[in-house]
Amino acid sequence: MSPVVSPKAATAPPRPSHVEPVALSELAALVDARLELSAQDPAITGATLRAQHVRPGDLFAALPGANAHGADFAAQALAAGAAAVLTDEAGAGRPALREAGIPLLVHDDPRGVLGALAARIYGDPSSKLAIVGVTGTSGKTTVTTMIESGLRAAGHTTGLIGTVQTVIAGQRLDSAFTTPEAPDLQALFAVMVERGVTHVAMEVSSHALALGRAAGTRFAVGAFTNLSQDHLDFHADMEDYFQAKAALFDGRAAKEVVCVDNEWGRRLVKDGTITVSLNEDATWRAEGVTVAASGAQSFAVVGPDDTKLDAVVRLPGIFNVSNALLAVACAHAAGIAAEDTIRAIGELDVPGRMERVNRGQDFVALVDYSHKPAAVSAVLDTVRDQIDRAGNDGRVIVVLGCGGDRDRAKRPIMGEAAARRAELTVITDDNPRGEEPAAIRAAMVEGALAVPEDQRGEVVEIGDRRAAIQEAVRRARPGDVVVVAGKGHETGQEIAGVVHPFDDRHVLADAIDERFGIIGKDHA
Ligand SMILES: Nc1ncnc2c1ncn2[C@@H]1O[C@H](COP(=O)(O)OP(=O)(O)O)[C@@H](O)[C@H]1O
Ligand SMILES: [Mg+2]
Repeated sequence: MSPVVSPKAATAPPRPSHVEPVALSELAALVDARLELSAQDPAITGATLRAQHVRPGDLFAALPGANAHGADFAAQALAAGAAAVLTDEAGAGRPALREAGIPLLVHDDPRGVLGALAARIYGDPSSKLAIVGVTGTSGKTTVTTMIESGLRAAGHTTGLIGTVQTVIAGQRLDSAFTTPEAPDLQALFAVMVERGVTHVAMEVSSHALALGRAAGTRFAVGAFTNLSQDHLDFHADMEDYFQAKAALFDGRAAKEVVCVDNEWGRRLVKDGTITVSLNEDATWRAEGVTVAASGAQSFAVVGPDDTKLDAVVRLPGIFNVSNALLAVACAHAAGIAAEDTIRAIGELDVPGRMERVNRGQDFVALVDYSHKPAAVSAVLDTVRDQIDRAGNDGRVIVVLGCGGDRDRAKRPIMGEAAARRAELTVITDDNPRGEEPAAIRAAMVEGALAVPEDQRGEVVEIGDRRAAIQEAVRRARPGDVVVVAGKGHETGQEIAGVVHPFDDRHVLADAIDERFGIIGKDHA
């Protein structure tokens, strides 16, 4: 995962303009929390777990954290007008709260009940929306973007919540988290309801599920893409990780849609599950996939009752056929005709997901957000497959790095995955963050060079990401596919705590223009 860390992360998320006040005692009863009141029962009109975001009338959630206890920030929250505080016994015992005399809700698992409380405070907004939640290791952003385009094509006012952007009825906000904290999420849903949104497509990460951020949310549809090694620094192991993802399928979604091309997906299937597959018998299938030189794919969507519809997905990679099928199935489960979603997907590009940079050059250039071993393998395999189908002798060229301060185990695996698949691998920097970039690259190079020489392509190391992209472009020949992997839609590169402007799509376009002598062409 390589989100751009920016000051925006501190911006307060939107709040609805009208909230019907709820008595604190009613909230206490809802989650069976102990109520500590010195005077009257306060009316609550909002919730947050960040003291700096508190508004008058809020319930401030003072949660235990790794380094500090939220209760230690109570003074700031009270000064901002917090009407009450939700905390645990440890928090209630902190001097900052004991001395304040503020009404308290005390619960053993304040984080666990925060979603339900926030949902109640904001009028249970998810019950007024048809929300499609998508979980899985990869494909969440792609699938939710596709679903949202289908919902819009069917004429609905939509919301989109995900890594790249949060959109409310056509208005774009910048989003800092794949899935917001529970109170922020419920407030966001309430804003959506106020603005006339009826249908929402939402990414639901395993972190979010494990941390209860989606608690209090009713899903019309829950969807699963796939599962592979990822975030193992956060989840103890694959089984744990799977259980976190599986939480979306514990009955909280009215309908469940699962891609069964992966053993983990098959484990989620039960009576009534809507299934999706590229190759097996399933509720929704793809038939006769063909690939154009651009990487665009045509196929027939075979739906329930064996209805067949012609579809095109512009995004290269067989997994994007799978993503498109899942999107069609999810939107259909939410009441959208398959024709509408298929029409919308046919015209869709997803920012930084197998996104083509076309400057009229004689090779294919792609920017892709693959930054996990399985994603890198899948992308390079699918690109190879595309070259084979096109029947030319094109080569695969990949530029990639690994982020700093995260999952170190994946570095040699990613180096190996690339070296085994690409004729040329250019190992470079991603977001080194607080780490020494050369050490990150060294781990990747080690993995790459551990592959026997006759089983790998050429491996070069160029730390400067711009120079690495330029080298890949310089070496590309007609029919080749250049993949710049890892940063996708990101617009900055974080080095030693500073985010420098950097957009792979622009740098790649510039490199192509420079090589072919196009000067001053605008590609904003
Ligand atoms: N269904 C899929 N299976 C395998 N890899 C995928 C799939 N969909 C996308 N990818 C790869 O994962 C990367 C991230 O895709 P994205 O849609 O952003 O997923 P997420 O939001 O789950 O991280 C893409 O750039 C692509 O390389
Ligand atoms: Mg995402």
